[in-house]
Amino acid sequence: MAYNICVLPGDGIGPEIMEQGLKVLQAVGDRFNLEFSCDKHLLGGCAIDACGDPFPEETRVAAKAANAVLLAAVGGPKWDSTNPDARRPEEGLLGIRKELDLFANIRPIHVFPPLVDASSLKPESLEDVDLVIVREATGGLYFGAHGRELDVPGAGSDGKPGMAAFDALDYNEGEIERIARSAFQMARSRGKRLHSVDKANVLETSRLWRQVMHRVGEEFPDVELIDMLVDNAAMQLVAYPAQFDVLVTENTFGDILSDEAAALTGSLGMVASASLGPDSSLYEPAHGSAPDIAGKGLANPLAMILSVELMLRYSFEADAAANAILVSINRVLAAGYRTPDLADTDTPADHIISCSSMGGLVAANL
Ligand code: IPM
Ligand code: MG
Repeated sequence: MAYNICVLPGDGIGPEIMEQGLKVLQAVGDRFNLEFSCDKHLLGGCAIDACGDPFPEETRVAAKAANAVLLAAVGGPKWDSTNPDARRPEEGLLGIRKELDLFANIRPIHVFPPLVDASSLKPESLEDVDLVIVREATGGLYFGAHGRELDVPGAGSDGKPGMAAFDALDYNEGEIERIARSAFQMARSRGKRLHSVDKANVLETSRLWRQVMHRVGEEFPDVELIDMLVDNAAMQLVAYPAQFDVLVTENTFGDILSDEAAALTGSLGMVASASLGPDSSLYEPAHGSAPDIAGKGLANPLAMILSVELMLRYSFEADAAANAILVSINRVLAAGYRTPDLADTDTPADHIISCSSMGGLVAANL
């Protein structure tokens, strides 16, 4: 049986990193006797250009029918507009997360030993760093009521009428409970330590979050639950990152903390993510579409390739194939091959290579 994968290359560096992800998928399939049928569809800015809709109906149908969705990146300055009514590529991404109910966004922060020097942190701070961020991805500020008002009395300068905008933050018990359960299960399968990150000293949603986390925690007595305020967590992540095993948090905090945590790995180009829902799953790099380097061969395809690795592991239960990808990446990095974002100018042994050479080497070393 062939696994049916809905492929969404998207915008910016998306198509070039996707090409490398599919190259590695093909190679791993040949080696482990797995068959994939990959169909490309439009999402994001390219979909706005083609049909005016960042998440076209045709893509919605294909994504729902697939065994898994593989997405590269969406967005770019071409679609930036100050007009609040303009369609944005990001609507496509948020739309597919919501439509497929992909509430659990899993972001592993794995430091590949050859890249210890690529991080801005001291090598000793990175010892034993291996953590997973579990980000709630279908609620909170991203999906709350939002809008703009014109001519609001007193909202302008000097008490004149002016514009105002709002984004509502709400969470309900059910939403918190299901992400709590995903996070506890993840912690149970790993180091059995779960940091729940919130802002309970200020936000009511965080106080509910904390209450529900502890209630669900009673079902997981083998997992240690530690509450941490988000500002402290931001500091602890760079000061003592090895203390974390699994970190669970709401949508916006998770967005910010996962980019911060990516710095531990040496580059945002090293962090992949799995977005899991009751019936669907989507895999994508945690980074964006990097329009400034698109089409130049400078992009790092490893987060895309690691997204393929997560897909094999979580959707197809092909752990041996997934592990082979990790081993191959380690081998290529240990031999000194680097995309420009990973290059350490102090290490003359580095061979700076292109996006497609990196993909080719990982495929060849499987
Ligand atoms: C991410 C990205 C997205 C998000 C953007 C592109 C909408 O930053 O996946 O972290 O904020 O969720
Ligand atoms: Mg982000």
